[in-house]
Amino acid sequence: MQIRPITATEDAFSAWYDVYLTAHVADYPNGPRFTEQELRVAYRGHEHHDVRLWLAEDGGQAVGAGLLGLPLRDNLKLAEPEIWVRPEARRRGVGTLLLQTAYEAAREHGRSSLLTYLEGPASTDMTAGTFFAEHHGFTRRITEIARVQRPPFDLDAIAKAVDEAEPMAAGYEILTWTVRAPDEHIDEVARLEARLSTDAPLGELDYEAEVWDAARIRKSEERAAEMGRQTWSAVAVLPDGTMTGLTTLSISRESDDNGFQDTTIVDPAHRGHRLGLLLKAANLRQVLRDRPGIQAIWTWNADSNAHMISVNETLGYRIEGWSAGFQREL
Ligand SMILES: CC(C)(COP(=O)(O)OP(=O)(O)OC[C@H]1O[C@@H](n2cnc3c(N)ncnc32)[C@H](O)[C@@H]1OP(=O)(O)O)[C@@H](O)C(=O)NCCC(=O)NCCS
Repeated sequence: MQIRPITATEDAFSAWYDVYLTAHVADYPNGPRFTEQELRVAYRGHEHHDVRLWLAEDGGQAVGAGLLGLPLRDNLKLAEPEIWVRPEARRRGVGTLLLQTAYEAAREHGRSSLLTYLEGPASTDMTAGTFFAEHHGFTRRITEIARVQRPPFDLDAIAKAVDEAEPMAAGYEILTWTVRAPDEHIDEVARLEARLSTDAPLGELDYEAEVWDAARIRKSEERAAEMGRQTWSAVAVLPDGTMTGLTTLSISRESDDNGFQDTTIVDPAHRGHRLGLLLKAANLRQVLRDRPGIQAIWTWNADSNAHMISVNETLGYRIEGWSAGFQREL
C-alpha cells in the first residue's frame, strides 16, 4: 500500500474522485454529492483556503482518498481532514494511514485543531465515518439536519406562504440576481456573509468569525463559475441600501442531480418580518424557473435553529439526513 500526494489538476484526481463517489454512495446512497468538475476546482485551493490531497493505492488500484483543508485567512489553528476508503478495502488500516498523513501535514502547517464534517442518512446517526472518527479521538460538536426538496415542487404552497408573509415585510424590497452580485450591493453582501459565519448556531464547535470583504465575494463568484456552478441570490434591502437579509443557492450546470441552498441570513435587528421565508421563496422561484429539471435541493440547519427549520418545512423541505462536525485537538 502506497500513499502519494496528488493535486486536483492532474489526471490522478479522477481516481481520487472515483474513490470519493464510491465511498460516499456506499454509506449515503441518495445523499448530496458533488461533480468531479466541482471538486477539481474546489480542491485546487486559493488564497483563502489551501487543500492537500493524497491517494492510497494497492497494487496500482486506488483504494483510499485523503484531503486536508487549510484555512488561510481566519481559523489559522484549524485543519480540516476528509478520508474516503472503498468499501471492499475497509477495516485494513487504509483510513488510519491517510489520517496520519493528514496529521503530519497539519502539524507542518502549525495547526492545533482538526475539524471534519461527516454525513449520513436519517435512518441512522452512526456510520463507518462516525465510528472511525470516534476511534481517532474526535468528538461530535454539532449536528445539522439535512432537508431536501424533490419534484414535484409545490409552487402553489410557496405562493400561498409568500402571500401570507408579505404584509409583515412592508418597507423591505426583495431583489434577486444570478451569478454576480451588483457592484452597489457587494459590500453589504460581504458584511452579511461575515456575520453568518458565527451567527448560525455553532454547537460546541471551536470556530472563529470568518473574514469576508468584497474581493473575497468576487473570488468565490469566480470559483463557482469555474466549478461549472450556476448561482442564484435573493436579498432584502431598505430604501437607504442597507441589506437586511441574504440567501444563495447553487447547482452544477452539467447535472440536475443536486442543488445546494448555501448561505441564508437575516440581520438580527430585522428578524420577525418573515424575511427568511420571503428570501428563500423568491430564490426558489427563480431556480425552478431556470432549472425546472432539478431533482434535489438540499438545505442544512442546526437542530436548535427552530425558526429556519419552520421556514424550510413551509417551503416543502423534508428530512433525509444529517451532517455532523467532529473535532479534536492535535
Ligand atoms: C471512515 C472510513 C474512512 C474508514 O476507513 P478504513 O480504512 O476502514 O479505516 P481503518 O481500517 O483505518 O479503521 C480504523 C478503526 O476505526 C474504527 N472503524 C472504522 N470503520 C468502522 C466501522 N464500520 N464500524 C466500527 N468501527 C469502525 C475501528 O475502530 C477501526 O479499527 P479496527 O478495524 O481495528 O476495529 C471509511 O469507512 C469511509 O470511507 N467511510 C465513508 C467516508 C467517511 O465517513 N469518512 C470519514 C472522514 S474523517
